[in-house]
Amino acid sequence: MGKVNVLEHPLIQHKLTYIRDVKTGSKELRELVNEVAMLMAFEITRHLPVREVSVQTPVREAKSYVLAGKKLGLVPILRAGLGMVDGVLRLIPAAKVGHVGFYRDPDTLQPVEYYVKLPSDVHEREFIVIDPMLATGGSAAAAIDALKTRGARNIKLMCLVAAPEGVEKITKEHPDVDIYLAALDDSLNDKGYIVPGLGDAGDRLFGTK
Ligand code: PRP
Ligand code: URA
Repeated sequence: MGKVNVLEHPLIQHKLTYIRDVKTGSKELRELVNEVAMLMAFEITRHLPVREVSVQTPVREAKSYVLAGKKLGLVPILRAGLGMVDGVLRLIPAAKVGHVGFYRDPDTLQPVEYYVKLPSDVHEREFIVIDPMLATGGSAAAAIDALKTRGARNIKLMCLVAAPEGVEKITKEHPDVDIYLAALDDSLNDKGYIVPGLGDAGDRLFGTK
């Protein structure tokens, strides 16, 4: 079964507090979400392979390391996932960015696909699916399905806040996918919002209703 990792770094937890705060406006929220995404990416990429190189310092030649293997693929789930991408790219600028578009039908809470565009060599890349919210898990499960259908084999999921229901769905339907969270919250309410959560991530990030 995939691992569920709650990243408890103090900086992540501190910034998440202000992300949750209803008084935080869109501009500050976007900055904080990108900062947390960058910190999370630091933790999530610990396992990346490196290869040895030699580099000439001003003093002498030194043995050193650079990232090896295929470039990472970042896949934000539109729209709210976009709010985390720049933060990750600041750390890993060479990553390729695919996009998958799902919205949640407000009545059925089922994900509806409207866009998929992925980088080439899907089967050779490691992907990080990115979305601030893992609520019922429907959108993330469908996004992972969309990647797997196109040949992706190595996928991680990165979210700010999750409900237990969403974590259970992903671990059941996609046991090969490790999940990385800043917080695992208490529950979902009857409208499918995470409790306590942070509200509607897309609307708060982009100033819509
Ligand atoms: C939100 C969020 C996730 C989804 C989570 O997107 O960004 O994609 O809901 O809910 P789920 O786990 O129950 O599927 P939303 O559908 O509001 O679309 P948006 O990003 O365009 O605002
Ligand atoms: N989508 C959001 O943006 N927030 C939630 O709490 C649940 C789904």
